[in-house]
Formats: sequence, structure tokens, C-alpha cells
Amino acid sequence: MAERILPTVEDTEAFGRELADDLRAGDLVVLDGPLGAGKTALTRGIAAGLGVAGRVSSPTFIIARAHRAGTRPDGTPGIPLVHVDAYRLGGDLDELDALDLDTDLHHAVVVVEWGKGVVEHLSDRHLRVQLAREPESDVRTAIWEWHGRA
Ligand SMILES: Nc1ncnc2c1ncn2[C@@H]1O[C@H](COP(=O)(O)OP(=O)(O)OP(=O)(O)O)[C@@H](O)[C@H]1O
Ligand SMILES: [Mg+2]
Repeated sequence: MAERILPTVEDTEAFGRELADDLRAGDLVVLDGPLGAGKTALTRGIAAGLGVAGRVSSPTFIIARAHRAGTRPDGTPGIPLVHVDAYRLGGDLDELDALDLDTDLHHAVVVVEWGKGVVEHLSDRHLRVQLAREPESDVRTAIWEWHGRA
């Protein structure tokens, strides 16, 4: 378990870019934390690090959005990103497969906001990132750990 203090949204995005260095196609990232904790901001950083084409915004009203691979910051080919908001999946575990995303999940990194306890079974390992926020402050804290990693 590792912990990082994230004073600004830029720090959160930079942390996402760092996490992306450790991610491979087929990996699952489960983001947890309350409304406004920075899950989407972190996903934006992960997307930048993966070299994803296009802008990352909250998938809240569409449940999931697939982003095509572009070029990574180091010039190597990017990895596609599937960005899911499980808030509205309502614990329906089969729904992720039913999203018909036109993206092979094994060839993408899948990041799931509100995914704790809902999507872990989709992969034999996942990175869990727990974001917390302090009241009346921009400071966020991230705690993260791989689960089930060989
Ligand atoms: N240190 C910080 N890290 C991340 N976001 C921050 C930070 N400080 C301020 N913010 C602001 O907090 C908000 C975080 O919003 P974001 O959409 O990323 O949260 P979220 O966890 O995805 O929320 P939701 O549960 O509604 O999806 C943004 O407006 C961002 O600019
Ligand atoms: Mg969000």
C-alpha cells in the first residue's frame, strides 16, 4: 500500500501519468472515492500517460467511453482506454460486457470509477486507487495497491 498527497488537480493528473507507466493492455484500474474526489481527473492523467487520443470527460451519463490509442509521451504507440462509471451500473455485473464498446477489453486498459466491489472479477488482477478529500481544501490523498498481481 502506497500513499501520495495531491495538493492540486495538476498533481493528481501527474500522478495518473505515473501510474500509466505501470499499466499494460488488459489491466483493470478500480477508482474509489467520494463525489469530486478526483477520479475523473486521475483518469485524465492515466489517459495522457497511456497515449490516448481525444479528451477524457466524465462518462457519468453514458456509463462507458472507449478512447482509441494515440501516441505515448515517449513517442511509443499508445494503449486504448475504456473509461467506465459504475455508479449507474447498480451492481449489475454483466452489464460491462453488454456495453458493446467495439473495443477488446484485453487490448485496452479499463479504468472504472465507483468500481469497488463491482468489477474486480473482470480481471485476475487489478490496481485499486482510493482517493480521499479533505473538507474545504483542494488537497486529495491517494492510496493505491495492486491486488492479485502475480
Ligand atoms: N488535488 C486535486 N485533485 C483532483 N481534483 C481536484 C484537486 N483539487 C481540486 N480539484 C477539483 O476537484 C474536482 C474533481 O472532479 P472529478 O470529476 O475528477 O471527481 P470525481 O471523483 O470523478 O467525481 P464524480 O464522483 O462526480 O465522478 C475537479 O473540479 C478538480 O478541478
Ligand atoms: Mg468522475
